[in-house]
This record gives sequence, C-alpha cells and structure tokens, in this order.
Amino acid sequence: MRRKLAAGNWKMNGLRADLAELDALASRYEAPEVDILLCPPATLVAEACARSGAISIGGQDCHSGQSGAHTGDISAMMLKDAGAGAVILGHSERREDHEESSEDVRAKALAANAAGLMCVICLGESLEQREAANTLEIIGGQLSASVPDTATGENLVIAYEPIWAIGTGLVPSLDQIGEVHDFIRTQLERRFGAGVGRSVRLLYGGSVKPDNAADIFAVSNVDGALVGGASLKSGDFSAIIDALNDSA
Ligand code: 13P
Repeated sequence: MRRKLAAGNWKMNGLRADLAELDALASRYEAPEVDILLCPPATLVAEACARSGAISIGGQDCHSGQSGAHTGDISAMMLKDAGAGAVILGHSERREDHEESSEDVRAKALAANAAGLMCVICLGESLEQREAANTLEIIGGQLSASVPDTATGENLVIAYEPIWAIGTGLVPSLDQIGEVHDFIRTQLERRFGAGVGRSVRLLYGGSVKPDNAADIFAVSNVDGALVGGASLKSGDFSAIIDALNDSA
C-alpha cells in the first residue's frame, strides 16, 4: 500500500512570520495518518525543520553538484544538513524560468538521492501540447529522461502538474487526471518492474483547493497532491490534508 502524501509548495512566498502557518499544522497533525511535506523557500528551511514536528520539510530545488563555485545555488547536502527530507525537482516554473531540461532534473535527482533526500519530480504539459493531443507523449518523454535508473518507492515521488492548471483555477477533468496517472503508473511498471513501479507515489498538482480535493483524491493512481497557493494558509491546507486522510 502506498502511503498518501500531501505536499505544499510555497514557491517564492513566505517570511519568518509565516512559519506560524507551519506551527498551526504541526500542532494539528501530531501523528498524521498521511505523510505531510511542506516546501518553504530555502531561507526558511532550517527554521522550519526546527519546529515542524511530524511534518517533513523539503527544498524547492537543488544543484546537481555537491559544492563549488555556483553563486546563488544550494546543494542537496546543504538541504539535508538543514534538516530537509525531500526536494521538489523539475517544477515547470524552474523548467521555464531557468531553462532546466529533463537531463538536468535527472542529475539533480541523483545528487538529491545520494544526499538522502526524497525527490518530488514534476512533469506537465502546456495547454498547446494538450490541445495538440500530445499530452501522453510529453509526459512519457519527461518521465523517462527526468527519473534516474536508481528510483525506488522511497526516494521518488512523481507530481503530475499540467502547466495550464497551475495558479489558474483551471483543473483537468477527473478522466484526464486519471488517464495521465494511469499512464505514468504503467510506464514506471514497465521500466522498473511491478515492485518499484507500484510503490512510487503519484501526486496531482494544479489548482488543488479544499473544494475539489476530495474528487481528485478519488481518481485512480492519485496518491496525494502537490499544492501551491492553498498550502500558504494552514486552514486551506488542513482541509486538503483532511480530504486526503478521508480518501485513504
Ligand atoms: P497551485 O496549487 O497554486 O495551482 O500551484 C500548483 C503547483 O505548482 C505546486 O507545485
């Protein structure tokens, strides 16, 4: 059985005072039945780890190297050293803003796993690609190039995040979500065998809110969510976590 996972991505949001939202989550979920991961900006990771209780803390990106002359970057080892347990890699905002390729993402994933971090690797198609009926081809290509051969159910989570659904309030139909998640599951089983292929958790991300979460969590092969805007406030994120718990 795959353990459900509710993950929050604060993106470039959050000052120290906003860790009060984490405090509220930590006191509400002292022994949660689903895994909860919160990924604040890098400046808050260490402080978040010191007060997160049963909630795991993750980074939003890391460099593929261990250390060196890379101004502005942080390594997987630095995140681990700060107390993080995971890192988001290959988010579409990084693929776009920083021209990250799937090969870059795979190199980062290897570094993250070597440092002992679980990777949440993001995949997603643009609206143009969906309208051209290329979604599965795009997702399949990103999946095979971004995921390292060393993937396991413990060191890898995949997040399907259609680019056009991020921050827009638009959400694919439940059939569309199910089609992509079933496809990702099949691809993972083909490449890694049933054992690993069935143990990797698949998250949906893109405008997940308290009022649509339960429907999304009922879709086959959806093991949780990667939540942006609605993870910034503990009340909204709690409602999503509770919906996931109820679906488990
Ligand atoms: P929203 O939930 O704000 O649409 O963001 C989704 C996302 O990109 C999470 O990584």
